[in-house]
Amino acid sequence: MGSKSAMEGLVLFLVAISVQVLVDVPRANRPYYGVDFPGMIPTGRFSNGFNTADYVAKSMGFVSSPPPYLSLAPSSSLVGLTALTAGVSYASADAGILDSTNAGKCIPLSRQVEYFNATRATMVAAVGSGAVNALLFKSIFLLGVGSNDLFVSAAAQQSRNRTAAEQQSDAAALFADLLSNYSATITELHAMGARKFAITNLGLLGCVPALRALDPAGACVDGLNLLAAGFDGALRSLLAGLAPRLPGLVYSLADSFGLTQDTFADPQASEYTDIAGACCGSGRLLAEGNCLPNSTVCSNRDQHVFWDRSHPSQRASLLTARAFYEFFFRKGYLPPDQRAGGVGPEVPAHPTGGRGLFANKKKILFAKRDLQPNQRAGDSAFYDGPAQYTTPINFMQLAQPS
Ligand SMILES: *[C@@H]1O[C@H](CO)[C@@H](O)[C@H](O)[C@H]1NC(C)=O
Ligand SMILES: *[C@@H]1O[C@H](CO)[C@@H](O)[C@H](O)[C@H]1NC(C)=O
Ligand SMILES: *[C@@H]1O[C@H](CO)[C@@H](O)[C@H](O)[C@H]1NC(C)=O
Ligand SMILES: *[C@@H]1O[C@H](CO)[C@@H](O)[C@H](O)[C@H]1NC(C)=O
Repeated sequence: MGSKSAMEGLVLFLVAISVQVLVDVPRANRPYYGVDFPGMIPTGRFSNGFNTADYVAKSMGFVSSPPPYLSLAPSSSLVGLTALTAGVSYASADAGILDSTNAGKCIPLSRQVEYFNATRATMVAAVGSGAVNALLFKSIFLLGVGSNDLFVSAAAQQSRNRTAAEQQSDAAALFADLLSNYSATITELHAMGARKFAITNLGLLGCVPALRALDPAGACVDGLNLLAAGFDGALRSLLAGLAPRLPGLVYSLADSFGLTQDTFADPQASEYTDIAGACCGSGRLLAEGNCLPNSTVCSNRDQHVFWDRSHPSQRASLLTARAFYEFFFRKGYLPPDQRAGGVGPEVPAHPTGGRGLFANKKKILFAKRDLQPNQRAGDSAFYDGPAQYTTPINFMQLAQPS
């Protein structure tokens, strides 16, 4: 395909695509995970089918996202060969930015970076450092991490009796730790030859079905959303500050928060009928229990934002990847600096969507132009115009040869 040849030599490395996991970690290698995957096989993805990383990779011309490092690690020649051709994924469920987050239950970010370093050594052994650097300069490093750090921190905070002022200083200390580690990680990867970073910020963590199920009205946990917004603001500044200091660094920061917020404010625009509950699980909102082989599974999975109590559906992943990759933005999108209350999120107070966030605001509407042939249901929400969910460039621009 055309885009593939333009990307020749492009390799995608997934570092730290951590997935949202709350307590009582489910495993995704059993039904009904993968119920919509080709062949209906559970693949370990926390989705009914493909995930966002798969769709980002597919957009860039790959068949799907790269294979996991640990499946290759027993053979160093396999690691090297795969890294040189298909990329490698170091992502780990439960992982956070901090080693302490879910310690012992995941591969933390720092270890993922070590695995990449080991991978790089096998690549150099195979083709030499000149060729490796040339390849890495063109490769995309996809990072999305931090949600588990915030979940763990928020859970710990709940059991402490802190004043509002103390909570603020706790949050500031947490952000300082997270951002200094994130900064160190990007700097290390850059030192190893990484140049192109696709980074996703944190979405409305307080609105995952598992948390809504705890509220009598099914409302989101606003405090956690505020924490995510605070992290996102700090991440944005971090990247803007790092770029001039790290020669050749280019990045695309994707706004999961804004996309989720807009999706929840106007679900119909994306043809969602359920933005609050899970599609596979048990109890209230199908979100009190994990998605297990004896769970109830909804049939209209494409109309659900969430697949299980904390992970998006395949279709939500597709729309997310598309929003980050291409020049599309959603009706009603407001850039972070134009949102009501600055970075503070406004979220629907009720799972059915409640008041539209932008009901009283002027909508940014662009004429709908010719849509790409691969666009399907839900696209009415997207308009061809300047990239709005990514800054300063979108994933497609990032992947273009420089
Ligand atoms: C990467 O590995 C090399 C040895 O191959 C080592 O000298 C270097 O410190 C490592 N870098 C990081 C960031 O782990
Ligand atoms: C929490 O702290 C406040 C004052 O700092 C105190 O009045 C209150 O009793 C404490 N609550 C608990 C459950 O310890
Ligand atoms: C991450 O932060 C912790 C504590 O702030 C620090 O001890 C550790 O060295 C940091 N790791 C990196 C890779 O910067
Ligand atoms: C499903 O099975 C698990 C044990 O594997 C059990 O704990 C749970 O109660 C069952 N859930 C339902 C909805 O039957």
